[in-house]
Amino acid sequence: TGTFFVGGNWKCNGTKESITKLVSDLNNAKLESDVDVVVAPPFVYIDQVKSSLNGRIEIAAQNSWVSKGGAFTGEISVEQLKDTGCKWVILGHSERRHVIGEDNQFIGKKAAYALGQGLGVIACIGELLEEREAGKTFDVCYQQLKAFADAVPSWDNIVIAYEPVWAIGTGVVATPVQAQEVHVAVRDWLKNNVSAEVASKTRIIYGGSVNGGNCAELAKQEDIDGFLVGGASLKGPEFATIVNSVT
Ligand code: 13P
Repeated sequence: TGTFFVGGNWKCNGTKESITKLVSDLNNAKLESDVDVVVAPPFVYIDQVKSSLNGRIEIAAQNSWVSKGGAFTGEISVEQLKDTGCKWVILGHSERRHVIGEDNQFIGKKAAYALGQGLGVIACIGELLEEREAGKTFDVCYQQLKAFADAVPSWDNIVIAYEPVWAIGTGVVATPVQAQEVHVAVRDWLKNNVSAEVASKTRIIYGGSVNGGNCAELAKQEDIDGFLVGGASLKGPEFATIVNSVT
């Protein structure tokens, strides 16, 4: 569905020096032209990355404040993200849900605000291991999807990232069958609860221990429309391999 979309989520990693090297590797990489590629640096490096990347790759932020900026110590507003050249924001990432404690409703509000200001949203969903083992994978994903659906005015500028929490940073990647199964369920949910058009147009990307070795098999799955990559996005050549796994 749609143009293959690959995001590199750098999380809380990097220094000016390591990021200079990573950007240079990305600028030198040969990337397939029919792929949307974004990277999400830590806020403090967005300006450095934006001014040194060659323009092929868009910038995403890893978070945004829920409303207009102002007296919110430690937060970064959507307006500031746009001002520094961001086109996207990652919201609902498992680390923000489960480490920092953001809930579905707060995440929905953030998504609505960001979309309203013209940012694209990479909307993350995914179950914990105990939820999968209890047979609740679909229910958890549906609840997270519903929170987005209840809040957002339109799905035009949303990419859904299915990131099973047990696969994030663990080296335990979902099998192509496991990922495809949830992607189909997500698409069905969109069809039944939003519209057939949104279901067929919305890109659903997979995240969780994606690397240069496992991306090709995953990319072949009918409903996997790209990837959200953590650790492997910190290595330029490997990230390029993942971008180029488009089929
Ligand atoms: P890893 O690729 O390091 O497992 O991280 C995935 C992720 O959380 C991307 O947002």
